[in-house]
Amino acid sequence: MEIIRCENLSKIYRSGSAAVHAVDGVSLSFGQGSFTAVTGKSGSGKSTLLHLLSGLDRPTEGQVIYQENDLFRYNENQLSVLRRRRFGFVFQAYNLVRELTAQENILLPVMLDHRKPDEEYLKRLTDMLGIDDRLTHLPGALSGGQQQRVCIARALANKPAILFADEPTGNLDGRTGREVLTLMRTVSNELGITMILVTHDTGVAEQADRIIRLEDGRVAEDSGVMA
Ligand SMILES: Nc1ncnc2c1ncn2[C@@H]1O[C@H](COP(=O)(O)OP(=O)(O)O)[C@@H](O)[C@H]1O
Ligand SMILES: [Mg+2]
Repeated sequence: MEIIRCENLSKIYRSGSAAVHAVDGVSLSFGQGSFTAVTGKSGSGKSTLLHLLSGLDRPTEGQVIYQENDLFRYNENQLSVLRRRRFGFVFQAYNLVRELTAQENILLPVMLDHRKPDEEYLKRLTDMLGIDDRLTHLPGALSGGQQQRVCIARALANKPAILFADEPTGNLDGRTGREVLTLMRTVSNELGITMILVTHDTGVAEQADRIIRLEDGRVAEDSGVMA
């Protein structure tokens, strides 16, 4: 079953008379609960595609349809509520609040949304990510891999339908990066969360259901249609 798709999606950046087609007529459909890796050289449009799919950025042309709703028909406020409730984000940089413990960082999005945390769910999540014994630590006392796992827990605290991740293992060594990917795969399976991640990590092939390679803003290779 499809959860999100894009149709003829394009993003053109103009500077003076030059135009960069960062994303160039991309149409893709993603299955509910699927795990997709987006790869490609630097500058191939991976981040731009992720930003468009997740409503962080508006396209020059084309549509993003999330559960039969056109994202860009929403106004900014509706879109930000949708992003906060239904989408989670993980970036290369950890972006944790240095003064708050791991636990407080994880709870922050739930608190900001004035909702009550689901303790049982959060316990399951932090157990699964192997950070249950690190929750009272400040980010500075955690390793890079642990900090990124805290970021993943934070991104999932609101029980999103889709987790978008842009180079989540980019700052980690190869082995730690692969451990984090394996955990993301486990979380996706166990909680049924759709994952769309941009990565250079060659080990991702073992985890992903599908690998999409971009070249100059277009889909150059797509290993699989949606399940
Ligand atoms: N805000 C922007 N303004 C102008 N050009 C941009 C902007 N963001 C990205 N680009 C250009 O769009 C292309 C794709 O960028 P990006 O999506 O960041 O690629 P990737 O994530 O694959 O490295 C590149 O040529 C980049 O320079
Ligand atoms: Mg990028």
